[in-house]
Amino acid sequence: MKKLLIVLISIAILVVGCLQLTKSTKPGDSNLDENSTNEINEDNNTDKSLTKEDVDQIFTEFNNRFIQEVDENGKVKKFSSKSEIISFISEVAYEDLAAQYVNSYYEDREDGLYITDKEPPLLLLLNQDYELKEMTDKYHIVQNIDSEEQGKYELIATIDNLNDEWVIEDIKVDIEVARNPKNRYKKLYEKYKDILIIANKQIPLSSDFVPSELVAPDVVFRFKEDVPYRYLEAEAAYAIEDLFAAALEDEIELYGASGYRSYNTQKIVFESNVAKYGEEEANTFSARPGESEHQTGLSLDVTSRSVNMGLTQKFADTKEGKWLKENAYKHGFIIRYPKGKEDITGYMYEPWHLRYVGKEVAEIIDSNDLTLEEFLKSIDVIK
Ligand code: DAL
Ligand code: ZN
Repeated sequence: MKKLLIVLISIAILVVGCLQLTKSTKPGDSNLDENSTNEINEDNNTDKSLTKEDVDQIFTEFNNRFIQEVDENGKVKKFSSKSEIISFISEVAYEDLAAQYVNSYYEDREDGLYITDKEPPLLLLLNQDYELKEMTDKYHIVQNIDSEEQGKYELIATIDNLNDEWVIEDIKVDIEVARNPKNRYKKLYEKYKDILIIANKQIPLSSDFVPSELVAPDVVFRFKEDVPYRYLEAEAAYAIEDLFAAALEDEIELYGASGYRSYNTQKIVFESNVAKYGEEEANTFSARPGESEHQTGLSLDVTSRSVNMGLTQKFADTKEGKWLKENAYKHGFIIRYPKGKEDITGYMYEPWHLRYVGKEVAEIIDSNDLTLEEFLKSIDVIK
């Protein structure tokens, strides 16, 4: 065990050392600084994106600060207490994270700060591949490691922007997940069960299903009245406020068209569509009562002036429709009925119909081009 520990520390020091040779960054001279000439800041100072180069710098800094030089007795040379090293690391990471790392590996003794003989916590390995994923205001770094020395695990770090500086908010290591990536989906499903309700042609909702808390989001609709269409399940309502606000920041004007529809309302809507188009055609875009996820309060149809406030596939070609397709997942929404997946969802392409599933699941569904059905099938929640 001791030998493994020494190997691990040597690797970490080596990796950190090599990276330090190429670049050393302090929060103050970070190239994400507002006055920086770095290209990522050129178009808009408030709209920063995180690049892999930034990630390398942030983690080099974090790893450097965490791995300290020690003497032959394991005594840290530069710091004399845990609180000192925690505050040093806190300049580049949330204090909770700094404390968690320091507490798991260092100990205060009467004559100073020492490393323990525990295994050091896992760090992002900068010489190995990782994925960088954009969330609403944060980023996730996901690294899957499968090596003889370190074993098999998945590391997920969250990077947040505080006062124009990137800091590491959190690092989670999941050994289970790396053994079987499906475990991650299953865990997410357990966590978000309440918002991952399925309503489709095969699995209808009961006629008395109603959302637990309906809230009218503070966003603009294509109508003025305070009617149920304006309401969504609370969590989805807050998330849609974020999405509409982010759209406006990009000069994209979206309008809500139809949110919550009760079983009885859906019955009226469907019957009216059947009267106009015949039952078969109507059911390619309009759900039978019980089969509409608008009954969950987790769906919202969205439109724009560019399509005269209509719900039409032309919306996909507008700048609003394109923005929505590109950005919905960042706020926890998916385009529920995608093009090419009609056989799976049972409905035609609806570029206007958003479904709230939460940010983590939305990101998975979006980046893997899945439907909600495919996601749930992959973890055996539905057949
Ligand atoms: N347009 C979708 C399928 C619904 O009616 O719920
Ligand atoms: Zn809809």
